[in-house]
Amino acid sequence: MLRNDQLDQWDRENFFHPSTHLAQFARGEAPNRVIRTASGCHIEDRDGNRLLDAFAGLYCVNVGYGRQEIAEAIAAQARELAYYHAYVGHGTEAAITLAKMVLDRAPAHMSKVYFGLSGSDANETNIKLIWYYNNILGRPEKKKIISRWRGYHGSGLMTGSLTGLHLFHQKFDLPLAQVIHTEAPYYYRRDNLDQSEAQFVAHCAAELEALIEREGADTIAAFIGEPVLGTGGIVPPPEGYWAAIQEVLEKHDILLVADEVVTGFGRLGTMFGSDHYGLKPDLITIAKGLTSAYAPLSGSIVSEKMWKVLEQGTDENGPIGHGWTYSAHPIGAAAGVANLKLLDELNLIANNREVGGYLNRTMAEALADHPNVGEIRGEGMLCAVEFVKDKGSRTFFDAADKVGPQVAAALAGDHVIGRAMPQGDILGFAPPFCLTREEADEVVAKTAKAVKSVLG
Ligand SMILES: Cc1ncc(COP(=O)(O)O)c(C=O)c1O
Repeated sequence: MLRNDQLDQWDRENFFHPSTHLAQFARGEAPNRVIRTASGCHIEDRDGNRLLDAFAGLYCVNVGYGRQEIAEAIAAQARELAYYHAYVGHGTEAAITLAKMVLDRAPAHMSKVYFGLSGSDANETNIKLIWYYNNILGRPEKKKIISRWRGYHGSGLMTGSLTGLHLFHQKFDLPLAQVIHTEAPYYYRRDNLDQSEAQFVAHCAAELEALIEREGADTIAAFIGEPVLGTGGIVPPPEGYWAAIQEVLEKHDILLVADEVVTGFGRLGTMFGSDHYGLKPDLITIAKGLTSAYAPLSGSIVSEKMWKVLEQGTDENGPIGHGWTYSAHPIGAAAGVANLKLLDELNLIANNREVGGYLNRTMAEALADHPNVGEIRGEGMLCAVEFVKDKGSRTFFDAADKVGPQVAAALAGDHVIGRAMPQGDILGFAPPFCLTREEADEVVAKTAKAVKSVLG
């Protein structure tokens, strides 16, 4: 129900919402929801509806809502020192402490962390560092970046190009020419239904190799990928995928960027997705889980191998010409320190493995036999349900039928938030790490009910 009060009118007249149908929203044809408060896994809107947020905002409020420890840390930092920049060797206790905490948790070969504000700007930083690196090494032609279809890496010019989803390209003149896309490791959506998982992995690696050969390895700088495809459909990779991909990259001297904006700091039940799948990245992108979104902060973690070349670059060229006013903002850093402490103290990553596993098992028990549920998949505290028109022939619904959005809307009507993923009829779940078994039961029961109400 729409509330025709002043805030509603201001919202529609003044506020440009991201990822929203602008015309329908302005005309009042699409509902709005104004969130007022939140605690644990629940949010509450201005109309008094209390909803179980099984997507943790945009898979970012990992420690859950309303954590006073983080709020206090932010307030204390704001009172003591709300801002100072990090240029030419300046810093704050919070930013330096957080850098140490991040490196202590990152894979051993990583060396330094540069702090930004969003996942998008961190990936923008990564691409600049990669280009700088190859210029310093005297190979100015080696600049193209390979990303995957269905990858999500942000929505800037370069990062929107890296993103492999049509919605983020169309009418924006993206992708830029320096970005090329390869096959998504999405076994359920493979072209050749006869392929085994192992054959599909070999196919993905062969596609990558063929692309590199077509373009010329001396023109390709890096490959970027999320350990588990996120916004593209919540798709864990098939067994052996990362080993096969890394072998190709190593052979052609191509850097690897692990975009861990979703998977970093515990979402898969391990500290990093790189640990989980045996990745040895040259750069790691972090954001969301770094502060659990209590304040905007992201990071690019740089390997020792790249760091040495960056140092050489500044010896040859002077200070690195890269930085934002808000790089390493102390309020974000204070939130990050308090957040990572809480993650340890409450043992939330272990809870993720336990309750995330339970959520995935019970979701499968409740829905696997439904004729329109093609696949239920997940890892750690990530879970997805993919809908199909016909299971036997794996025929998908028309996008215009909006089956995924309808199920998500029915579920929200029952006070549980899942996310209709933007490409395909896929309902995604990424709850806060503090989800209990009882809350997981509620998510599963209400999802089954919503699926029944839409699909029978
Ligand atoms: C894997 C990944 N990378 C990058 C981003 C972009 O982050 P942001 O929205 O903070 O710019 C996202 C956002 O969802 C993401 O999931």
